[in-house]
Amino acid sequence: MSAVPKIEQNQVSSLENFGDHLGKSLIGKRSSWIMGQISKRDENFISGIISYLKPQKVVEVGVASGWSSTVILNAMSQLGAPDGKEDVWLTGVDLSPDYYLDKEIRTGAAVAEIVPDLLPHYRLKTGVFSFQAMPDVGGVDFAFIDAHHAHPWATFDLLSVIPFMSPNSWVALHDINLCTVPRHQHKNRAPYYLYFLWKGPKVHSSPETPMIGAINLPENPRDCFSDVIEILSTPWEVHVPEDLLHLWVEYVVKYYGDAAGKEFMNCCAIANKPTLGRSNA
Ligand SMILES: C[S@@+](CC[C@H](N)C(=O)[O-])C[C@H]1O[C@@H](n2cnc3c(N)ncnc32)[C@H](O)[C@@H]1O
Repeated sequence: MSAVPKIEQNQVSSLENFGDHLGKSLIGKRSSWIMGQISKRDENFISGIISYLKPQKVVEVGVASGWSSTVILNAMSQLGAPDGKEDVWLTGVDLSPDYYLDKEIRTGAAVAEIVPDLLPHYRLKTGVFSFQAMPDVGGVDFAFIDAHHAHPWATFDLLSVIPFMSPNSWVALHDINLCTVPRHQHKNRAPYYLYFLWKGPKVHSSPETPMIGAINLPENPRDCFSDVIEILSTPWEVHVPEDLLHLWVEYVVKYYGDAAGKEFMNCCAIANKPTLGRSNA
């Protein structure tokens, strides 16, 4: 396997320019029903990074309409990635089988509408959490997390994908500054904590208040477990039910080992929001 390139912050604007170029084929194709999607600037960032890293297997957690799936597939296809080879794909994972803004529409429907030729390279797993999906998704060399924005969910999603990520791979995170948007009233801090507390290499998009960034995993991705636990220890914004946490503990024990499972349990016991908080499952 060829080495994963490093990305420096001073490369980002030229990657975004190339991402903008890749996105030209999608101009005018986004129907009015598609909402709640990543912005054009965020599209440029993720397409540019994909153009540079050339991942063959990608997972996206948080699909909604399927617009960001479309953008990712489009970037992969224009690089000669989905060129008929069945082993090149993007898997979308979403807890909801239905598009959260219109229950009449299936999650991910934009892909079939906008890039039907790329459907053979698209897989979708809905009605499951990321940790339930990943064993079926298998090994990936790039991930994009854009699901639940309240802490700890993005960090949970990162813990889910890490055991399946290739050495030194990158994970893009959306809405890293969502909590700074006044209407969010400093809530929805999951991607913010994950990106800004990340100790390893990372880059963000060019705007002054970037909404998208990417973090670089170590050679053995599981080596960052303790760093991730440190981020997870920041008090949670939402309560996570005990029965769901038990499933998470089992996952952590299985993929990170017994000691990690204990560390994870201790962290959950301290950081979980009391049941009076808004529940989420
Ligand atoms: C902001 S939308 C994703 C937008 C999409 N990435 C785009 O740009 O087109 C967030 C999605 O995450 C899903 N979601 C919420 N919580 C989740 C969880 N814990 N696991 C997986 N998906 C979740 C929602 O159903 C919703 O479809």
